[in-house]
Amino acid sequence: MALTKQLISKNCGKIKPESIDGYIQSGGYEGLKKALTMQPKEIIAEVKAAKLLGRGGAAYPVGAKWEHLLEIPHSPKFIVCNADEGEPGTFKDKILLSQDPLRVIEGMTIAAHVFGSHDAYIYIRGEYLAIQKVFQQAIDNAIAEGYLGNRILGTDFTFNIHITSGAGAYVCGENSALLNSIEGKPGYPRIKPPHLAEVGLFSMPTLVNNVESFATIPTIVLDGGNQYANYGTADSGGTKLICLSGLVVNQGVYEIPFGITLRDIIYNPEIGGGIANGKKLKFFHLGGQSGPCGIPEQLDTPYCYAALRSAGLSVGSGAVVILDESVCVVDYLKGVTEFFIHESCGKCTPCREGNQKVYAILCKLSDGTATTQDFKLLKRLITTMTAASFCGLGQSATIALATCLKHFSAEIEDHLHKKCPAGVCFQEQERAAI
Ligand SMILES: Cc1cc2nc3c(=O)[nH]c(=O)nc-3n(C[C@H](O)[C@H](O)[C@H](O)COP(=O)(O)O)c2cc1C
Ligand code: SF4
Repeated sequence: MALTKQLISKNCGKIKPESIDGYIQSGGYEGLKKALTMQPKEIIAEVKAAKLLGRGGAAYPVGAKWEHLLEIPHSPKFIVCNADEGEPGTFKDKILLSQDPLRVIEGMTIAAHVFGSHDAYIYIRGEYLAIQKVFQQAIDNAIAEGYLGNRILGTDFTFNIHITSGAGAYVCGENSALLNSIEGKPGYPRIKPPHLAEVGLFSMPTLVNNVESFATIPTIVLDGGNQYANYGTADSGGTKLICLSGLVVNQGVYEIPFGITLRDIIYNPEIGGGIANGKKLKFFHLGGQSGPCGIPEQLDTPYCYAALRSAGLSVGSGAVVILDESVCVVDYLKGVTEFFIHESCGKCTPCREGNQKVYAILCKLSDGTATTQDFKLLKRLITTMTAASFCGLGQSATIALATCLKHFSAEIEDHLHKKCPAGVCFQEQERAAI
């Protein structure tokens, strides 16, 4: 099996990103032309056949989401592209937005054709300011050439895309907080139901998909859902952009067919190339800060939704962060929890207070002052925060902690009553290197 497959990323670095000519020469807009000859239900059937699971992290089947929205009788329906990409260790949407924005625009335009939508919003993270400009230029060029705007390709179909800039809040990647933010309201998550398909942007039926999900649509329509699905495994259709970072030789974004192993991803010279500085792998963190950590014994797990789930791991956003033997697990978890303290929106108590409590106990573990009572409380906090937090941020904030407690219980318990046995902590190393 080939270890990489450039399907969605095939234009990246090879064409002038905002140029319609370059995009057309690489086969661009053939998917839209075909889609305009198809009925919405036919397109959705292809998306379902593709077994495309949402690439933003939650892995919700895109075909089922589209089918549900199509059945809702109210209009107008809005299309929203989630380009907030706030998950640490995740930078694959950045590659698509900056190096092949027209692919994302084409995918959104096909979705608009399916739902009869006239307006879409793309919520791009504020830190991607330069990319927002590239994306706007691509929109302007598509309008000038008749691929966007009024009477697309000479049909009656009119569709516009508006860019909204994020302002640096991770929680605004949560789809309902994102819609609030587009509406100019504070970025707090909404209570669900009602689902966004029914009451979404400006209270109208709304489709929210991730950048990579939209970028995949032109390929699925053009080549057919079955062909796309065949690149992957029985449950995980197609390919996935993964982001390799941390203490690995070849950091970067790679498009892989689902089904290759974690060992292939981390060690094969075509992808990760092994652990940096000749060190040994200690653990890896999948799917961003909100995802689980895995250990070397799990390296032969195929990278696909079902196999990772069975192993207590997950695809999440596609982030794969590598940590070597020099990293102290407790110190690493302190860094993870600091992130969630910073990003908690404060709306609900389990997340707002829970993350602070978890952090305090981790600090006590580092200092060697934690007690067995603290350790018990840590485990209770995981259960409470997962069950009682209002949104996915708080619900997943302790996943890394829970998996590390499973894999590194001896190391973490070693921290009880004595100062960090690893000696030099990861963050201290990082600070020293700056
Ligand atoms: C706290 C939080 C942050 C999120 N951040 C992102 C993000 O940056 N980008 C993204 O596409 N999805 C993010 N999601 C997932 C979205 O809520 C949503 O599931 C996704 O945009 C749906 O698109 P998809 O089905 O194509 O993956 C986040 C979820 C949560 C709970
Ligand atoms: S879980 Fe955290 S981010 Fe989500 S609503 Fe509660 S406080 Fe806000």
